[in-house]
Amino acid sequence: MTARKIILDCDPGHDDAIAIMLAARHPSINLLGITIVAGNQTLDKTLVNGLHVCQALNIDTPVYSGMPKPIMRQQIIADNIHGETGLDGPVFAPLTRKAQSQHAINFIIDTLMASDGDITLVPTGPLTNIAVAMRMQPQIIPKIREIVLMGGAYGTGNFTPSAEFNIFADPEAARVVFTSGAPLVMMGLDLTHQTVCTPNIISRMDNAGGPAGKLFSAIMNFTLKTQYANYGLEGGPVHDATCVAYLINPGAFNVQDMYVEIDVNSGPCYGRTVCDVLGVLGKPANTKVGITLDVPWFWDLVEECVRMYH
Ligand code: RIB
Ligand code: CA
Repeated sequence: MTARKIILDCDPGHDDAIAIMLAARHPSINLLGITIVAGNQTLDKTLVNGLHVCQALNIDTPVYSGMPKPIMRQQIIADNIHGETGLDGPVFAPLTRKAQSQHAINFIIDTLMASDGDITLVPTGPLTNIAVAMRMQPQIIPKIREIVLMGGAYGTGNFTPSAEFNIFADPEAARVVFTSGAPLVMMGLDLTHQTVCTPNIISRMDNAGGPAGKLFSAIMNFTLKTQYANYGLEGGPVHDATCVAYLINPGAFNVQDMYVEIDVNSGPCYGRTVCDVLGVLGKPANTKVGITLDVPWFWDLVEECVRMYH
């Protein structure tokens, strides 16, 4: 089977790092590039974090620096979850790995325009890079095979009662993407919260050994503290890795076609992914929304990928 060509657009970020870990080595994925966006932390930090993960795991995928700010709203970060560096916990060797000189937006546009329409975008942070690329070159939209994103929720949010962080950090960018007409798959909190990484899971990956087992343990041990302090969770949901897992085996997921609209009005629902679960609006579905996944399979996949770094 031909490996799925993807561009991973992320804001490392603890769970973004696990998404990189899965995407870079699994044989079903052909990781063409990693584009970095501001989100969990400022761009200078998310970029360094992405480079550190690639350097620590000998991942030679090119890394590109993208948008430093959201399109319109005032910037927010998630240091309450990811810490001062955006990837608190692991101690990395001095960074020698460099980002590409090409801007992430130009990489996304050039790569899609040169393609046969067989590239999937996998955004796991705010949608700023994707939206700006669509606005700079609208001809990329029909060239996008699919967008599999982590963001939103049909239930409650995690940054406000209504909004999930990635969407809330740049609602206007999300509006551009969700109205673009590109085929969308949304892994929202309702799905990703089924992947809470408990101490037992951390030990399992640590025991799997190698550099990835060690890094997984250092990364996810940090989230034990912040996820409990902020949400009372017994571990960090590995939100972003569910997007890569979906591409590896969509059959392990239950998704529902829905019409999804982004609320960009100021007020308590700003940044909400308004999901028409019951189809009451009668509007054509624009998104496949993740409902459930095969959780034991997911952790087996994570361990399988950790072992690929021996
Ligand atoms: O709400 C969870 C999302 O916000 C994840 O992508 C996490 O990395 C943060 O960016
Ligand atoms: Ca993220």
